[in-house]
Amino acid sequence: MTPLLCCVGLAALLASSLACPRSCVCSVKKNGRLLAECAYRELQEVPAGLSPNVTILTLSANRIGSLRETSFSEVPEVQSLWLGYNQISTVEAGTFARLVHLKNLDLSHNKMADFPWKDLRNLSGLQILKMNNNRLAGLPRGAFHSLKELRSLWLNDNELTTLAEGTFDLLPSLSQLQIFNNPFNCSCKVFWLKKWTENTSVSIAKGGSILCAAPSRLKGRAVTDIPDHFCVAPSVQLTYLSNLDNTVMYDGLTLTLHCSVAGSPLPEIRWKIQTSSRSTEISGPNVARDGNVLLLRRAKQSQERFLVFKNGTMAIPNFSKEDEGIYTCLAVNDVGTREVSVNVALAGSENPADDLLRNAPQASHLGGRSCYKGDDLDPSGDGEKLVIVYHVPRESKSRAGVVPQTCLGTFLLTLGLALCR
Ligand SMILES: *[C@@H]1O[C@H](CO)[C@@H](O)[C@H](O)[C@H]1NC(C)=O
Ligand SMILES: *[C@@H]1O[C@H](CO)[C@@H](O)[C@H](O)[C@H]1NC(C)=O
Ligand SMILES: *[C@@H]1O[C@H](CO)[C@@H](O)[C@H](O)[C@H]1NC(C)=O
Ligand SMILES: *[C@@H]1O[C@H](CO)[C@@H](O)[C@H](O)[C@H]1NC(C)=O
Ligand SMILES: *[C@@H]1O[C@H](CO)[C@@H](O)[C@H](O)[C@H]1NC(C)=O
Ligand SMILES: *[C@@H]1O[C@H](CO)[C@@H](O)[C@H](O)[C@H]1NC(C)=O
Repeated sequence: MTPLLCCVGLAALLASSLACPRSCVCSVKKNGRLLAECAYRELQEVPAGLSPNVTILTLSANRIGSLRETSFSEVPEVQSLWLGYNQISTVEAGTFARLVHLKNLDLSHNKMADFPWKDLRNLSGLQILKMNNNRLAGLPRGAFHSLKELRSLWLNDNELTTLAEGTFDLLPSLSQLQIFNNPFNCSCKVFWLKKWTENTSVSIAKGGSILCAAPSRLKGRAVTDIPDHFCVAPSVQLTYLSNLDNTVMYDGLTLTLHCSVAGSPLPEIRWKIQTSSRSTEISGPNVARDGNVLLLRRAKQSQERFLVFKNGTMAIPNFSKEDEGIYTCLAVNDVGTREVSVNVALAGSENPADDLLRNAPQASHLGGRSCYKGDDLDPSGDGEKLVIVYHVPRESKSRAGVVPQTCLGTFLLTLGLALCR
């Protein structure tokens, strides 16, 4: 028994250092690297019995259909792995994560629709990555961001319809990129690619063959030919509507902000409201054109407080101390996002009516029906925060007795109990 075990052990030891699977040819290269050539063998799996010293493994032109986490556990030192022209459709997560010495990885001409992108995070020495001629339909943002040594990236002839902005950022060594022959959807989401190609030192093979497959008006045109005026980043302006006469509709003081946006495609408007007690986000209109609250998309109680119209106007009826805070309008389109904020506060002065007459004599023209706007909002819309201070003109006091329903609210809200005796 013992001698037999001993012999088996010895054989295994020998096998592990000199091992070469029957279907491969192994040789030591001049630089001492161990090469295992297993190409063109009709292999359906990665062969077992490879030496742990293998640094170059060629498995091209076989019939391998899937890779498992353990497929390369025998060759942790591998630096070059050639797997092109197989039928690989599934790659288990972790297949490549431990191959930290990889410099060249060729997976081209396979059937991969997906890939365990997280495995790449460990491959910080990777220099060449070929994934062309597969069925990849998308790449996660940042898929390549750990590949500081990556020089050459081939992604041509896949099913990519879009690429996230910044996909090729943080790749200081990248010098060659192939992304042609993908059915790009030239919405403004890929417009960044045009700008990037115009200004990068990376050599982009067949740039003119990076074509749009959609939308129809751009079909067949190169991504680099998307007209600049199709895709314009949003601009946004927030104005305060001084016309508060619509108190017929709402009692009390109604704060009205209007957000006007420009850009191509026309930006969507979203609101963010940050008060001392809560934070609210409203991503679309909640009031129909006729002024009725849209009950169908009945929002949370907190959102009903803010009436958002399709035209960019937001009204807050019965604006009170609790509604003080930062009101932000965001303009969002496929090119980017811009926002502008205003800090809204109610007057805290003991006697704002007097302040008003002293600071702004024209305020009396407002006739006490509405409130005075202290500051104009920044017309350039670059996000500066300004404060609107509301004062109540003196006349309101006398009117309060006559039309209590309309003006009492205003009094209470802006002046507190001081003026409401
Ligand atoms: C494998 O590498 C080890 C350590 O570098 C070395 O001792 C051994 O001889 C190598 N085996 C072969 C077959 O190159
Ligand atoms: C990444 O490589 C390290 C060794 O450098 C290894 O310990 C770790 O397990 C690898 N990560 C994965 C997910 O295998
Ligand atoms: C292209 O992208 C736009 C914007 O993301 C999308 O609305 C449209 O449906 C896409 N078209 C196709 C054909 O995928
Ligand atoms: C173009 O690239 C240079 C550096 O390579 C950078 O300074 C410049 O801002 C870029 N221009 C644009 C429009 O991105
Ligand atoms: C505004 O406040 C008044 C009095 O507090 C109340 O009667 C009225 O229903 C409120 N209006 C709205 C739209 O909330
Ligand atoms: C937006 O629509 C609302 C409701 O129809 C209206 O009260 C408001 O004045 C409009 N805003 C602008 C700037 O036209």
